Amino acid sequence: MEETVRQFIAELRQSVENGTFVKLTLGNYRGDDDSLQKILARPVETNKGNRILFQYRRKRNSNVANFEAEDAIAHVEKLLTDGFRSGHLFTTVKDLQLTIGKRSAKIAPGRPSFSDPAPTSHDREKTYLVDRNAYYLKALGISTDSGSIRSDAHDKWKQINKFVEILTGLYESSDLREKSVLNVVDMGSGKGYLTFAAYDHLVRTRSRSDRLAVDVTGVESRPYLVELCNQIARAGAYDGLNFVPSTIADFHADEIDILIGLHACDTATDDALYQGIRGGASIIIAAPCCHHEIKAQMRSPELLAGILKHPVMHERTAETITDGIRSLLLEREGYKTKIFEFVSTEHTPKNNMLVATRAKQPVDREKIQHQIDELIREFGIESQKLLACLKLSELTSMPDNWE
Ligand SMILES: C[S@@+](CC[C@H](N)C(=O)[O-])C[C@H]1O[C@@H](n2cnc3c(N)ncnc32)[C@H](O)[C@@H]1O
Repeated sequence: MEETVRQFIAELRQSVENGTFVKLTLGNYRGDDDSLQKILARPVETNKGNRILFQYRRKRNSNVANFEAEDAIAHVEKLLTDGFRSGHLFTTVKDLQLTIGKRSAKIAPGRPSFSDPAPTSHDREKTYLVDRNAYYLKALGISTDSGSIRSDAHDKWKQINKFVEILTGLYESSDLREKSVLNVVDMGSGKGYLTFAAYDHLVRTRSRSDRLAVDVTGVESRPYLVELCNQIARAGAYDGLNFVPSTIADFHADEIDILIGLHACDTATDDALYQGIRGGASIIIAAPCCHHEIKAQMRSPELLAGILKHPVMHERTAETITDGIRSLLLEREGYKTKIFEFVSTEHTPKNNMLVATRAKQPVDREKIQHQIDELIREFGIESQKLLACLKLSELTSMPDNWE
């Protein structure tokens, strides 16, 4: 190794050891990896102790990896011999600029740009679950060209990250990791934020194994949104991601592995859940939006009459009963369900998320059906869309008191 590069590495090692290391950037890449452009390394605290986080900036996305200090230093040595022609080391004592020319290398020292060590909070790393620099986030106006989140898009950004966190947890603990082709459908995809995020994240997750194929379809009834999303998907070379103009009910997929249906209006959520059940989805993620269907027909059981006379209580109970029946129906169809708080959006302050995963144990359909029958009877419900869809498809029977 060139003496100057050796000296640069020694300075890096010293700064890591004495705690003055702030960050390192590597640039001017001339190596064999076509997509690699730049690398940024900085210290982070992880659950396993202090590490150095490397962010690999690529043409269309980024990926990250953590290394222990010694491995990180060895990694930098290798990167500087494998194609990076410049390195910029920032410490709280000085800055050092390494430039590697064709015949020789030189180091230019400078005054420190930073007087404090880098914050090592895990928080910054956590945001890497979604890459701020991803093309789709810029195209959809969530982040700027330099990767900052736009001031009016922070809520959406938070929601996208939370959604990806939930999706990742469900995917990682499912058998879907073993599937060679993953089929994902996002019902009522709207402007596609979550569809792109799901695609991007699943592709990156699966690129670490040999199970690469991810086929994601966004289903949306508004054609101009479909066109916009398809344009962005083509421009960003998101192969395997398509948007189709269709109502949720009319869309047909033979096989679905993951069904997403967030903030689809009223009974469109039922259409989405039904499509997930019909397509044999292993994972269903829904965030119900408005709950008009049950609210309009629900009457109060005698016991609750004094409570449900208040319109706000009537409305909230209708939501609870609607999502409760949906989750019971999913359980009856062989799923384990969870309902928990998601983040609210500009679409709706309502923020329940309903997640269903295939149950490993057989379910007691009769017992669940009995609970559904009781609810329907007690609250005087005359129709519920998911139940009607399941009845129509003859996947199941209707309760005795059903019209
Ligand atoms: C409130 S937006 C939510 C978009 C996205 N899922 C999200 O959470 O960011 C709901 C979208 O679902 C679409 N939609 C509602 N009902 C639908 C239906 N029955 N079939 C297809 N699309 C529907 C609407 O046009 C709208 O774009």
